[in-house]
Amino acid sequence: MLRHVSLALCLGAASLPAIALAQQAAPEGATATIHADQPGPRMNRQVFGQFAEHLGHGIYGGIWVGETSKIPNDHGYRRDVLDALKAIKVPMVRWPGGCFADEYHWRDGIGTRAKRPVKINTNWGGVDEDNAFGTNEYMGFVERLGADSYVSANVGSASPGETAAWVEYMTSPSGSTLAKERAANGHPAPFKLDYLGIGNELWGCGGNMRAEYAADLTNRYAQFAKASGKTKMLKIASGPSDSNYEWTDTMMRLSGKNIDGLALHYYTRPHDTKWEDKGPALGFSENDWAATMAHTLQMDEFVTKHSAIMDKYDPAKKTWLVVDEWGTWYDPAPGSNPGFLVQQNSVRDAVVAGINLNIFAHHADRVKMAAIAQMVNVLQAMLLTDGARMVKTPTYWVFDLYKPWMDATVLPIDVKTPWYHKDAFALPAIHASAVRDTAGQVHVALVNLDPNRAVPVSVALTGLSATGVSGRVVTGPTMDAHNSFEQPDAVKPVAFTAAQVAGGTLTATVPAMSVVVLDLR
Ligand code: AHR
Repeated sequence: MLRHVSLALCLGAASLPAIALAQQAAPEGATATIHADQPGPRMNRQVFGQFAEHLGHGIYGGIWVGETSKIPNDHGYRRDVLDALKAIKVPMVRWPGGCFADEYHWRDGIGTRAKRPVKINTNWGGVDEDNAFGTNEYMGFVERLGADSYVSANVGSASPGETAAWVEYMTSPSGSTLAKERAANGHPAPFKLDYLGIGNELWGCGGNMRAEYAADLTNRYAQFAKASGKTKMLKIASGPSDSNYEWTDTMMRLSGKNIDGLALHYYTRPHDTKWEDKGPALGFSENDWAATMAHTLQMDEFVTKHSAIMDKYDPAKKTWLVVDEWGTWYDPAPGSNPGFLVQQNSVRDAVVAGINLNIFAHHADRVKMAAIAQMVNVLQAMLLTDGARMVKTPTYWVFDLYKPWMDATVLPIDVKTPWYHKDAFALPAIHASAVRDTAGQVHVALVNLDPNRAVPVSVALTGLSATGVSGRVVTGPTMDAHNSFEQPDAVKPVAFTAAQVAGGTLTATVPAMSVVVLDLR
């Protein structure tokens, strides 16, 4: 958690409200204190979850190429993608959407592949969806990753009975007809269904509902979606977007007792006044950089305020806030199908990822699960593929750096930081979090969102004695430095040597536009 030292900072950009930030100004370098003697909550590893939707090449070509593909695969799953995802220990995968979920009928995606119906993906590019990747393929994917499953059910255009039958198909250990059908499709044992989403964005593509109506439907679908046998399936309701606090209040009031989690969606867009103009992923201005950082910092405000409403109905914090769609959303890559949401991923995205992961750590008492949008080839992707080629993005490398945060104990950290100024923006340069991992080692993340200036940071370590430090950094020579298929390793972590520990103080000079993770010994 990051201690609130109460300072209201007004960002000059007209579209941005004042953001209450937990940092105070410091003229030169930043100073901080880690309170290791006051351990906070556990940061669930599920916060590092990822979202994989039937959208563009998010699934087809990105994860699934089929057994007959020339691209090396394990029963149809790309081997390079599987290996890359295993290396960052993906803890949860949300599927099949997104907007796709509320048009998805699970029976289309089971049984002999050649006989599955071809549908139109009306949300994303109007392309043919041949349903080759269905329930068994998804479950095979998460089983291979060792990840939890999170299936979003169709509330918008399917009946509660259809959802109930899908849950029974996935979880029933008995000799029921649906369990036998699953066995005939190659999986006699029940699947491990960890989370069930009750629709997606019910206020929008999930059915344009009022919160009251969505809450009633949530109660109804939740009532009939019963996991069988030993399956402990948590139910996640479709929650608000951005600052829709009314939605959270209504859902918690009317459905709070029937759900285990409430979803929050928030996308970072550099330009947020017109949906058609979000700003380019590459070749952007420094004003766009600053706007991106200002918008992404708003995640803290949204999580804080939605959590406060949840506290009203659930003071014991039993209901999870699940940020199951977050990340950057830019204009589509030039020449790409606009419905495929293809975008490059640069050092800017790495810094955005670090800031959001820090925010989730600060709110680990309520944010128990999250999913970056999305896993492969869509929006702020971990991986990009092109035929047989694959690259790991700067965002992927930040997730790699933050692996020790999974299931770690969050340590409070107070930060006093210099400001980064650009045009109308005044933003805290240093954004940080600290944890004690499951083996007892302390790790500190220092993100410098100033693209022009390295910032010296001095961290007082209270309640812990450290004698050494090592670390890694993700940065690049320009704001939009990125990995291409031609230069796949342009941005990747390198050893960070500008940190020392002496006399209970950790010092480091954090490079401009970088994410540094330090491991104390
Ligand atoms: O991630 C892309 C889309 O964004 C999802 O399908 C939808 O839930 C959200 O609006």
